[in-house]
Amino acid sequence: MDGPDTTGPLHRYDELVTDVRVHRSMYTDPAIFTAEMNRVFGGTWTYLAHESEIPQPNDFVRKNLGLRPIIVTRAKDGSIHGLINRCTHRGATVCRTDSGNARSFMCPYHNWTFTNTGKLTGVPMHKGYGASFDRDELGLGRLRIDSYRGFVFGTLDQEIDDLATHLGDVTSYIDQWLDRWPGAELVVRHGQTRLNCKGNWKLVYDNSADGYHPGFSHASLLRMRKDRYGVGVDMQWALGDTDAGLQTVTDLHNGNTFLDQRAEIDSYWDSAAPMPGQDSFEQAIRAQLDEVSAKAALDVVVGSGMNLNIFPNLLIIGNQIQVIEPLAVDDTDIVWYSTSLHAPDLPPEVNSLRVRLQEDFPAFGEPDDLANFEECQRGLGVEEMEWVVTNRHIDTGTETLDANGNVTGPVTDELPIRAFWRRWKKLMTSETKLVAR
Ligand code: FES
Ligand SMILES: [Fe+2]
Repeated sequence: MDGPDTTGPLHRYDELVTDVRVHRSMYTDPAIFTAEMNRVFGGTWTYLAHESEIPQPNDFVRKNLGLRPIIVTRAKDGSIHGLINRCTHRGATVCRTDSGNARSFMCPYHNWTFTNTGKLTGVPMHKGYGASFDRDELGLGRLRIDSYRGFVFGTLDQEIDDLATHLGDVTSYIDQWLDRWPGAELVVRHGQTRLNCKGNWKLVYDNSADGYHPGFSHASLLRMRKDRYGVGVDMQWALGDTDAGLQTVTDLHNGNTFLDQRAEIDSYWDSAAPMPGQDSFEQAIRAQLDEVSAKAALDVVVGSGMNLNIFPNLLIIGNQIQVIEPLAVDDTDIVWYSTSLHAPDLPPEVNSLRVRLQEDFPAFGEPDDLANFEECQRGLGVEEMEWVVTNRHIDTGTETLDANGNVTGPVTDELPIRAFWRRWKKLMTSETKLVAR
């Protein structure tokens, strides 16, 4: 393969990022990382938090938008706000705890105080400022905020379509994911599993709809489960010829993608890996519901068979939410949030089992992925080997249009990676001005 032209400016993305290959520097160049933290995160609708993390008036959580520190707040009137956690005096963060309940935030440096909607209300020894001092101009920076069924997104692009329009067909998959138990409320408030890898954040997204790797990367886990629990338990489908299976990947536009395992899952509960102590919970659920409802309740204990990847940082996997938090060009946190479902007709034992099962993959499967991300980062450091190849199934004639007109292919198709890079390139070359209101 020819190398890129090295005489011009670095950001020749049309040459360095194509449908068939991507230049290694996209994963290793600190200048590109800095640019994408500014242009990609916040240049589109970026996931921040779930509304159930801040259920009460004046609740807040600390999050990030790329590298920008953010506070997501619920004001007294219930409205949700995204504030840039950066004092307008001399730049210090004003909120230094991860979550809590507060009507205002007082900057520890000189004690300027801001309401939880961002307004500057307190300036110690204010007589030191003259007539030109305008408190109204010195509120915290504000993101544009929008949410879809509890998922809160923020952006600094004041022109972008509203969230639901931007998400398009993604919304119907969020609906399917949430409505597995009709009427249930999703709660994201059960702690987190924070994993770290010394790899670029995009390696995580590349892997998020990669149906090619599980049978190989996770072979030891899958074989152990087969030996211990029998054929059919957990993701054993991945050990076979996955090209010949019924699972698919789909491009949902704007970098959003979907991996659908559902066509090969007959019974979610029966194919789940057994959990220690599950019998008493199962019996309690069966005792409270008729047979059909008990089966449905046990099915929502288990992963949804859906991997929905919402560009650039939200991965809905099974029953969990995974958020990609980039720290540096070769350093990424991957945060798994477990979820529970609450409805009057759903026994609470369902959530005891759900939370237990949601400890499973981050502990037993994700280490395989993290090892690969870190080893990719090592390999991508080799300057003389310049490209990664992203063309699987690009010319095998297996891609079709689904009922919604979206391009879909076999689960090992790398079309999700190509979809990601198209959106990434658009944002990195966009001239839209990003502003905090
Ligand atoms: S930096 Fe916040 S009050 Fe001075
Ligand atoms: Fe994996």
